[in-house]
Amino acid sequence: MSKTIEVTLRDGETMRIEADDGLTLMEALRDNGVDELLALCGGCCSCATCHVILPDTVFAELSPPSDDEDDLLDSSEHRTATSRLSCQVSVADLPTPCRLTIAPED
Ligand code: FES
Repeated sequence: MSKTIEVTLRDGETMRIEADDGLTLMEALRDNGVDELLALCGGCCSCATCHVILPDTVFAELSPPSDDEDDLLDSSEHRTATSRLSCQVSVADLPTPCRLTIAPED
């Protein structure tokens, strides 16, 4: 199964990606060529360069961030109430329709 996700990039452009349920959201973004999402640690929850901002409705559907994710998000100047690290979110857990915004670079 896959989901369509509307992604707003840093320049305000939007694109639609097809994301496989077996991937993390970071992997799906990376595989679809969203290269402004650096994901430097490869998904180990240690870099915070995979930061995305979700709509309230999408954020509310997900389990809360772990303590490690929460601490890393705190290191971002651009954290919002609905920020997540995309490597810690499974595509399978996202509702449809789904939208997100790539967070500004720290
Ligand atoms: S890829 Fe490094 S924290 Fe997500």
